[in-house]
Amino acid sequence: MTTATSDQQPTLDTLTSIYDGRATGQYGLTLINQRAHAVQSAYHARAQGLPASLVVAALLHDIGHMVHDLGDHPAALGTDDQHENIGADWLKRYFGPGVTEPIRLHVAAKRYLCTVEPDYFEKLSDDSIESLSLQGGRMTEKEVAAFMQEPYREGAVALRRIDELAKDPNGPMPQFGEFAPEILQTAVLGVAP
Ligand SMILES: [Fe+2]
Repeated sequence: MTTATSDQQPTLDTLTSIYDGRATGQYGLTLINQRAHAVQSAYHARAQGLPASLVVAALLHDIGHMVHDLGDHPAALGTDDQHENIGADWLKRYFGPGVTEPIRLHVAAKRYLCTVEPDYFEKLSDDSIESLSLQGGRMTEKEVAAFMQEPYREGAVALRRIDELAKDPNGPMPQFGEFAPEILQTAVLGVAP
């Protein structure tokens, strides 16, 4: 079993309190709350045999919605909350780029998949369709070429496919604490406040 060091414990405690608190709200989702979406995402990442960094990225990919003050459904008001950048920047205090960069790119990955896979758009939930146009819609050729140069694009695409899978009210709902081993394995020692 992985045990937290004194440097890692604040990371785990802070994340747990966010997911026990604000993440019990919907924040742009309609079928399940953000905590359920997070643990279901991490469940699928683990089940697919992805590395610990992507299990943690899946678990925390929407934390940007929970650390801003733009209300719980800014897309309905026509605002893109830029949660991918807010979340990735906020998480930098705890994690390296293997966790933060797929999170930063997961919205770009949605736009990319909608562009290069004709049937991907049809698989999107209503929530994802609502936010897509605010996020820029399908990519231009130039944007696709730029995305292909991103070093963390493969993780971001895997994360984005999981994102869409993990909105099932009848799907698996593990406890947030079940992912403590991956959090502790990937938290950057000495960075947590
Ligand atoms: Fe998500």
